[in-house]
Amino acid sequence: MKNMKTLFLKALLLSQALLVSLMTVADTEDYSSDAQWWSPGEERVFPQYSEYKNTSGRLGIINLNGPINTAEHPFFQALGSNGRGCVSCHQPSDAMSITPETALQRWKETNGKDPLFAAFDGSDCPTLDQSKPSSHSLLLKKGLFRIGMPWPPMPFNGKPVAPEFTIEVIRDPTGCNTDPVWGLNSEKPTVSVYRRPRPVINVDHLLEMPHGVPPYNKFFFNDSSLLPKDPETGNFVSQQLMADGRGLTPKLQALDAAQTHLELMAGLSKEQLQQIEAFERQLFAAQSFDAVAGDLTGDTTPPGLGPDALVKAPRGRLGNNPLNKIFGDFSMWENAVNQQEFKASVARGANIFKERRFYIKDVGAYNDKGLGNPFKRSCGAGCHNTLVMGMDLSPGFMDLGLNNWPWQTTRSDLPLFKITCHANAKPQSYLGRVIMTHDPGRALITGKCIDVGGTMTQQMRGLAARAPYFAGGAAANLRELVDFYDRRFNINYTEQEKIDLVNFMRTL
Ligand code: HEC
Repeated sequence: MKNMKTLFLKALLLSQALLVSLMTVADTEDYSSDAQWWSPGEERVFPQYSEYKNTSGRLGIINLNGPINTAEHPFFQALGSNGRGCVSCHQPSDAMSITPETALQRWKETNGKDPLFAAFDGSDCPTLDQSKPSSHSLLLKKGLFRIGMPWPPMPFNGKPVAPEFTIEVIRDPTGCNTDPVWGLNSEKPTVSVYRRPRPVINVDHLLEMPHGVPPYNKFFFNDSSLLPKDPETGNFVSQQLMADGRGLTPKLQALDAAQTHLELMAGLSKEQLQQIEAFERQLFAAQSFDAVAGDLTGDTTPPGLGPDALVKAPRGRLGNNPLNKIFGDFSMWENAVNQQEFKASVARGANIFKERRFYIKDVGAYNDKGLGNPFKRSCGAGCHNTLVMGMDLSPGFMDLGLNNWPWQTTRSDLPLFKITCHANAKPQSYLGRVIMTHDPGRALITGKCIDVGGTMTQQMRGLAARAPYFAGGAAANLRELVDFYDRRFNINYTEQEKIDLVNFMRTL
């Protein structure tokens, strides 16, 4: 009872804080004529261009091929048995992800009845009393959904994998991993991990194969194995979808999403899959207005900012040379003065991101790949090297330590697993054969010891609209994200450098 009260109080305070911060955004124009929240099955038109307010300005979304009547579109329909549509968890206002603030607001508006809170994965565990906010704490506080991964691992090709390790549940704050119906020892053994929805924007960039960097257009960076192929076309896939890469193509990903998140057992028709992929490929989004810097789309802003830059930029390119700089050239803001001190800070942040090198150390499936340990590189050149997108162009799952002992302070809200790898398995390079983790990541697909903790780097656009960050929501805001890297790699950023990096990222 006490928990419930404090949660409600927190909800109230949070929503007030949100209101205040929205009101302080220097903005009078309202581009989005409709309400912020999108329910599935609404008779609404998704316009060619829309903007949504967030804590540091506005996000702009270009829907390239023109307005969509969502009443007839599978991304926006409640196709499954739980009343959800894809849009339930991929909200335009939140850069097509969803924040805990939005979820809380929705809880209050519907008294927890919105399909967003469906027991299956919108609660900490389906067996909990669904009427209590505390049963949905990971969604309401961290924006996390339950992902139930089959054990032993079962990849898309349907052939079960014999895992190289055993998995034990050490701590189970949600109760789901030890649950007799939903847990690891149930009839359908399942490992429940909790992850943030990745933003469904700029997907066209995510799907393009790398250009000009052979052989990475055929191989995984981390273990040099061949990339999988799209069963429909026979072409290699880019492997940039989902934290663990289990969504090989937009269609296979959508099928999986429909069967799990929408609880639609019948699957989707060929036409529905085509419509979903086409929609995902025509959405381009980025911050379009900053509360301090103002418009981010005009001729006086660095060319890599604003959603239009995503439409124009070539896909699948590295941003590692003077002609192709990651997120473009920020020099026009370098000497900006007064209101403009903020702009100069953004330009410095862009420089730090691209140029300031530090020692990257003990990153599984990275430092052990012939690069050396430690290996001196910047954020951009090291891992976030894709032109205008900021993910890693050469696909590779790596372990930054976000979910594992000893790097990340152990979180009490997430399950903790103990992985014990077989004596003859190749060990995880820096964690060995016994690993404590909140989320085994890629290893839940491949069953390999070296893949424990492996996560696919994600894009960096629309960040201001979709905190908290990282797959498990480990950083509540951009400052915590910078602090994580500063700690993890002993970078010793100055206070000003941290501020500059945060200012830079909030304009993306
Ligand atoms: C219950 C919430 C929920 C619903 C409903 C939902 N998703 Fe997601 N979506 C997620 C989560 C969580 C992830 C990230 C999972 C991971 O990384 O393992 C995700 C990831 C994605 C991604 C990958 C984006 C990237 O950058 O990697 C795409 C694409 C996507 N969803 C499309 C869809 C489609 C299409 C539907 C409807 C058929 C849908 N989603 C319904 C929660 C949801």
